[in-house]
Amino acid sequence: MRVIAIANQKGGCGKTTTAVNLSAALSSNGRKVLLIDFDPQAHATAGLNVQSKTSIYDCLSKLSTQKSDIRDIIVNVDSNFDIAPSHIMLSTLEQELAGEISRESRLQETLSSFTNEYDYCLIDCPPNLGILTVNAICAAQEVILPAEPSRFSVDGLSRLIDIIALIKERLSRQVSYRVLVTIFDSRLKFAFKILAEMRNKFSRNMFSTIIHVNVKLKESQSSGVSVLAYDKYSRGAKDYYSLAKEIIKQEKEAAPLQDKMRELVKKHLPRLTDVTLKVDLPGAKDVFVAGDFNGWRADATSAMANSNNGTWSVRMKLKPGQYRYRFVVDGKWISDPGNPTTEINPYGEYDSLLTIAPSA
Ligand SMILES: Nc1ncnc2c1ncn2[C@@H]1O[C@H](COP(=O)(O)OP(=O)(O)O)[C@@H](O)[C@H]1O
Ligand SMILES: [Mg+2]
Repeated sequence: MRVIAIANQKGGCGKTTTAVNLSAALSSNGRKVLLIDFDPQAHATAGLNVQSKTSIYDCLSKLSTQKSDIRDIIVNVDSNFDIAPSHIMLSTLEQELAGEISRESRLQETLSSFTNEYDYCLIDCPPNLGILTVNAICAAQEVILPAEPSRFSVDGLSRLIDIIALIKERLSRQVSYRVLVTIFDSRLKFAFKILAEMRNKFSRNMFSTIIHVNVKLKESQSSGVSVLAYDKYSRGAKDYYSLAKEIIKQEKEAAPLQDKMRELVKKHLPRLTDVTLKVDLPGAKDVFVAGDFNGWRADATSAMANSNNGTWSVRMKLKPGQYRYRFVVDGKWISDPGNPTTEINPYGEYDSLLTIAPSA
């Protein structure tokens, strides 16, 4: 499941419009989509004409009087398209979470229970950088940053990108972001100028698709449906369809890359073989194994375990190859009494030899 947060601290830049219509466009391409309305203002919920007694608040809050499992609050919107509705009560979650230790990961924990049920999970964020937006970014692998071409939006984006970088560092995993130009008015010279600046600044982290100004996007919202259901030939529908195609294309790009990585790992990382060395030494107090595989160290890292009857053993994972080793029994070096294959060493003593054949 690709989890994509749609975030920007600025209001009115097209987050909700993108969340709703991209969900519809992905689902019309046969992808199963869950849209999480994570804004207490519940614009996506209202914009899809969804009325529900329970909301995402009831899954995340411990104080909810109707505590629910996420599966129980999901409402079906269209074929392949479900929504987890929001409610104004979600605004109180901020305060509730303030005193909790893993407050950033509440949504991520909730989502981890059904990674196989949807192809995409889109999260519509509120217009601020509070704990709800941070929860959404923590739950996501990708963030879409919708931005209207204006000077202020470019400045705001940089702050948001810094926060994504911080979260990425904290989670120590990939969270990628891409800027989506929205509400683009091609009649304005100024819009083209800002677009060029954005392309220059964000280059590869920008979608090729641009969402143009289109009144059908507003009209569809008041009618309680997506623009695809409202007027599929409109510019708005075409733009969001094209965005969905751009996102879907990445599925194909990611898959061969993963296969290639797997192949490379297989080729370059030799298989490790499980090896157990055993020696019968009843009465010994301390037994270590020292050899080529551990830099001939006889310390805590190479201590052998004693089972009650005086059989000492150690398990190791070794690459194919030949190894020399000896046991150190109560401070005295001996060769392995159970291994007839030995080789004389520079001290005139015998090292035991162990050969690990390359596995198939
Ligand atoms: N491409 C567009 N063309 C015309 N109106 C748009 C477009 N995108 C958004 N809008 C309108 O702008 C307003 C704010 O958009 P919205 O998606 O709710 O922003 P946000 O969720 O970021 O606050 C809404 O009334 C919406 O219908
Ligand atoms: Mg919104």
